Amino acid sequence: MLKAKPFVKWAGGKRSIVDKLINLVPEDYKTYYEPFVGGGAMLYELQPKKAVINDYNTELMNVYECVKDENKFANMCSELNKHETNHSEEYYYEIRDLDRDKKKFNKLADYKRAARTIYLNKACFNGLYRVNSKNEFNVPSGKKTKVNTYDGPNLGIIHCLLNFNDIKLLSTDFEEAVKNAKKGDFVYFDPPYDSDTSTFNSYTENGFGKEEQKRLAEVFKDLDKRGCNVMLSNYNTKLIKELYKDYNFNYVTAPRNIGASSKNRGKVEEVIITNYNKAEVFDN
Ligand SMILES: C[S@@+](CC[C@H](N)C(=O)[O-])C[C@H]1O[C@@H](n2cnc3c(N)ncnc32)[C@H](O)[C@@H]1O
Repeated sequence: MLKAKPFVKWAGGKRSIVDKLINLVPEDYKTYYEPFVGGGAMLYELQPKKAVINDYNTELMNVYECVKDENKFANMCSELNKHETNHSEEYYYEIRDLDRDKKKFNKLADYKRAARTIYLNKACFNGLYRVNSKNEFNVPSGKKTKVNTYDGPNLGIIHCLLNFNDIKLLSTDFEEAVKNAKKGDFVYFDPPYDSDTSTFNSYTENGFGKEEQKRLAEVFKDLDKRGCNVMLSNYNTKLIKELYKDYNFNYVTAPRNIGASSKNRGKVEEVIITNYNKAEVFDN
């Protein structure tokens, strides 16, 4: 099948290192779990037959739901065309601020909310997804005169992937998302990054701090005990070194794209941790 690319630009997106990640994926697994799916770079590369994909960001997961559903997909595509035609500075803020009135916003059709999410991502500053404590999208306009919101062929590939394979979509906390994972399943965790200094982690209104990183490490260990193959990416910080010291570390130098000031945009050490050794997985 043709390979899709993410329909949104996503902070921490793994498109640039997906080749390195793929090399570390076990050859065989039953169900693929991706509890922090974001833009889905790894999902599109792997094209698993059976998977559970999840992200706490409900607006993002609503886009996946709409791309999967035949009718919602068609309506979302016309809505995207409408946004592309109407785009202006003023129009951006009109669409962005729809979530200021929660009652009205919650009544919006799913496909309209999905098209809004894609449009805002393409038209906002630097493709960032950031919400405040009231869960209001607060990224300023990217001041583009023209935006391309509608990539029909790419969305078509994702629509097929989500329908021809057994892909379950969830929008919950990562711990809940993997609760049914069993021996022989493969779980890839790509959480918001830890940092020794500061980090962008406002994808959701709750953020993701040190306590969340520690809770994730407990879930990693539990899945390890359950017989799952587990892979996790993060920055190679003091905390991450300590939390996963009993597992295998693979180092990657990843270009940092969004969520960093231009001064700090550069090479950062990214680590991919596995509870298996690829050679051993091949031997089984
Ligand atoms: C580093 S990004 C994932 C990027 C993704 N791998 C890609 O290629 O685009 C981390 C994701 O975790 C999600 N997230 C944050 N807190 C979460 C939680 N408690 N449970 C599940 N997902 C969460 C964010 O919404 C964000 O999409």
